[in-house]
Amino acid sequence: MAAHHGSAGLGMRVGIIGAGPLGVVAAKNLAEEGFEVTVFERAEGVGGLWRQTTNTQQTSVLPNTFTNTSKFTGAMADFPMPDDYPVHPSADQIQKYFQGYAKAFDIKRHIRFSTEVVAVAYDNATKTWRLTVRSVGSPDERSDETFNFDRLVVATGSFKKPLIPDIKGQEQFEGEILHSQAFKDPTKYRDKTVVVVGLGNTSADSISALIGVGVKRLIVSHRHKAVIIPRVTKEGKILEFTLTFRLLMLIYWLQKISKGLAATIVASEFNKLQDASYPALRKHRACANDRKLPAAHSVQPVVSDDLASHFIEGRLESAPGITAISGPRFIRFADGTEAKDVDVILLCTGLQPDLGSLMPSEFDPYNPSLAPKSFGILPSRYTDERRVARLYQGFISLQCPHQLAFLGSCIAKRPNFQLYDLITMALAQLWAGNYPLPSQGEMERSADDFMHDLAGLIKKGDVKLTGIMGAIEYDQWLNDVAGTRLYSHLGNWFSSDCWRLWWNDRKLYKTLVGGIVSAHMLRLFDSKGRGRKAWPGARDAIMEANERARNWKSEHFEEWKSEHWKGQKKGNA
Ligand SMILES: Cc1cc2nc3c(=O)[nH]c(=O)nc-3n(C[C@H](O)[C@H](O)[C@H](O)COP(=O)(O)OP(=O)(O)OC[C@H]3O[C@@H](n4cnc5c(N)ncnc54)[C@H](O)[C@@H]3O)c2cc1C
Ligand SMILES: NC(=O)c1ccc[n+]([C@@H]2O[C@H](COP(=O)([O-])OP(=O)(O)OC[C@H]3O[C@@H](n4cnc5c(N)ncnc54)[C@H](OP(=O)(O)O)[C@@H]3O)[C@@H](O)[C@H]2O)c1
Repeated sequence: MAAHHGSAGLGMRVGIIGAGPLGVVAAKNLAEEGFEVTVFERAEGVGGLWRQTTNTQQTSVLPNTFTNTSKFTGAMADFPMPDDYPVHPSADQIQKYFQGYAKAFDIKRHIRFSTEVVAVAYDNATKTWRLTVRSVGSPDERSDETFNFDRLVVATGSFKKPLIPDIKGQEQFEGEILHSQAFKDPTKYRDKTVVVVGLGNTSADSISALIGVGVKRLIVSHRHKAVIIPRVTKEGKILEFTLTFRLLMLIYWLQKISKGLAATIVASEFNKLQDASYPALRKHRACANDRKLPAAHSVQPVVSDDLASHFIEGRLESAPGITAISGPRFIRFADGTEAKDVDVILLCTGLQPDLGSLMPSEFDPYNPSLAPKSFGILPSRYTDERRVARLYQGFISLQCPHQLAFLGSCIAKRPNFQLYDLITMALAQLWAGNYPLPSQGEMERSADDFMHDLAGLIKKGDVKLTGIMGAIEYDQWLNDVAGTRLYSHLGNWFSSDCWRLWWNDRKLYKTLVGGIVSAHMLRLFDSKGRGRKAWPGARDAIMEANERARNWKSEHFEEWKSEHWKGQKKGNA
């Protein structure tokens, strides 16, 4: 199919589906560039999965979830989190933060809440998107309305579709089997015997919740050795703060020499950290040698302050992968051990984006028939399960680059909220025509290279987050398109910007390269006429965030310990 290329004559009306973090920041950054945005959100408020819901088909965090990114790095570039938030805010605080963000930038008036987009079509004659929307709760299509837009942003959820494994013999099980997406009320499981499958961050939150309500017996079945790191080390260091811009550049540089070597070094650092934080875990069943570590590139540590203690202090048992369900309440594990009288199997086996299901097939980025050769190099389980989106730079449609974007499939080496801000700043610049998109051929080649790299990674082990855009070139491109001018100011001694900053404001320069990777860096420098607006408050916010990060231990560590390590032996963390 020929691409709908070229932006000449396109109007400024943008329809956005979803008012989660991505939809809201897209609305704000596109409106800032002069686009007329309308957002459709089926929930009653903003925040996406950070809003609690009892709907078992919608992903939402648990009430006991805290962010694994800090409030200084995992924020929007021109909207710091409130002073009274803890360094790792709770789910409820994040939801309120997005409410505040939408209010502060006057985005709410552009959002139609309780409105679900039920169909999307492209009108070739008018070159517009037609969205059919329905009020949530209305019984049928009689209340449907249609809207036309010049461009469309799909932000329906980065973690929307549950990945559910087939477990041999599961039809015999007489207890309850549910996926984490449907796990909304931990109190239902008080006094039950629960087997949690999978050991990712969702498992960690679910395990905390289950232990909190008091279960009879709790087992976690995991195929790989546990890799658990704390948010805060036993010395009172916030782990994320050890990542500076300088260190990030070093990792990127190592990656350029050898991706495998860089991944191995990072994975080994995680292991060292686990050993130092939880020495007793080394001899625990969760780390026994009958299970391997995941391939270096797919090591995703579980970030948790209590999981290791639950293992060590016996509240949580570890078992290897499930071989079969061998009776109405009976589970057999890979090492031959069994669990009897199991009431509940909770599948914390992951989620994936679902950005294509509303789209006509000719615009669906997961549709292998649009690029059979490119998709053909991936194992069929990735294409049949629609796990890979073929996009330019992870968010731009190859079929309709000036009119269609999909947000939520790609991840990079930045905290998610920063990345969302940066990507949508870049999108606004591209669609405003301030930065040229390359030729169709170049975009296709770039997408093919991405598929090729992904296929290479898959050969070494399963890839969970298939939209991984890890290289420095990607971050540089995003910053260049968005107009942040970050890379001309930091560490680039061929650039006069860098020398000028170093000479005129040494304190700021040192803070930027050697301090925390603050979100506000993205709005610090003037774009010199092309790019997103700078935020006048950025310098102060960066200095303040660094000051607070430096003082965190002396001001908050004791209080944090009593809040987060309550009931646990201090020696574990
Ligand atoms: C359990 C969990 C914890 C996480 N914790 C962190 C963390 O600590 N730090 C971090 O940086 N990232 C974290 N993440 C990553 C997370 O993906 C992001 O924080 C973020 O919520 C993703 O935003 P989103 O807008 O893509 O999707 P969502 O938050 O899922 O929002 C999508 C929105 O689209 C709406 N929608 C969907 N379909 C339609 C439709 N047809 N019509 C109208 N509206 C529709 C939904 O109602 C929803 O509001 C976590 C993810 C999970 C699953
Ligand atoms: N507090 C927080 O910040 C927080 C909380 C929750 C989630 N999140 C984020 O949300 C995203 C999703 O997290 P998640 O934990 O739901 O998913 P995940 O990170 O993909 O973890 C899934 C787990 O399930 C296991 N698994 C998958 N398929 C399996 C199968 N067929 N049989 C047995 N085990 C299987 C995996 O093990 P293998 O390695 O063996 O495949 C892995 O341990 C992540 O990005 C995470 O960081 C963040």
